Amino acid sequence: MDNPRAKLPIGIFDSGIGGISVLAEIIKILPNEEFIYFADTLHAPYGNKPENVVQSLSIKTTEFLSSVGVKCLVVACNTATGAAINEIRRMCAFPVVGMEPAVKPAAELGIKGKILVMATPLTLKSKKFNELIRHYKHRSEIVPLPCPGLVEIIEHGHIHGREIEDYLSRIFSFVNKEDISAIVLGCTHFVLIKEEIVKVMGMEISIIDGNYGTARHLRRTLQNERLLNNGIMEKHKIPLKTNIRFYISRNGKEVIRRCKQLLQNEGIVCESECSHCG
Ligand code: DGL
Repeated sequence: MDNPRAKLPIGIFDSGIGGISVLAEIIKILPNEEFIYFADTLHAPYGNKPENVVQSLSIKTTEFLSSVGVKCLVVACNTATGAAINEIRRMCAFPVVGMEPAVKPAAELGIKGKILVMATPLTLKSKKFNELIRHYKHRSEIVPLPCPGLVEIIEHGHIHGREIEDYLSRIFSFVNKEDISAIVLGCTHFVLIKEEIVKVMGMEISIIDGNYGTARHLRRTLQNERLLNNGIMEKHKIPLKTNIRFYISRNGKEVIRRCKQLLQNEGIVCESECSHCG
């Protein structure tokens, strides 16, 4: 018998547009699902705030998405996951999928050299991240690279061009390229500037993010809980069409425009229903 909850949307949140990089991977492997995307642009960036502040913001967002009605929740933010995933899980009667910097797949590549982890200052300070490093340090040398201010540049829509290149050149001037085998993008915003990172660091260094792994983990979770929506199979087409309801806490119209553009760059056309903007 069909599970009636399977027809509900998937809730997904981030401080801003970074979570769209995760959502794009999810839509590609789960084209029959509908989504609610919450971007807390009123409080972005999260990565330079104290942990208890990010915790209470994440809890508020979770309460809101639960009240709107979702069948599961994706915390498309490494910073919020590091600060609040246990509290979020305790609150929810549905499955919750979080994110962590993809150190495991990077270490499993087994390439000689250091693994550089680009993330927000709060992610790199978190207990969760430091446990992750401890777990993999016997395999590879893991070097945290805090990137304060980078999320703000991306939130302002500068994902190409001078400002971002200058920022990256400055931050990478502290590392010796020859020593690095892989860069882990430990913030969902940074996936949006992957091309710029390749430009500055070169093609030889593997650049790894956790987005596809998160999408697969979500699919497995929905399968196990009998929550997959198998209803509308004709959606397996290019361009992929998808329904997303946006809730944006500040500068909504502009943020939605950027989100839709980012999805379109991935071959996804977003037919949003009603959207709610702060
Ligand atoms: N996109 C978020 C992450 O993955 C955080 C950005 C922020 O600092 O708000 O960590």
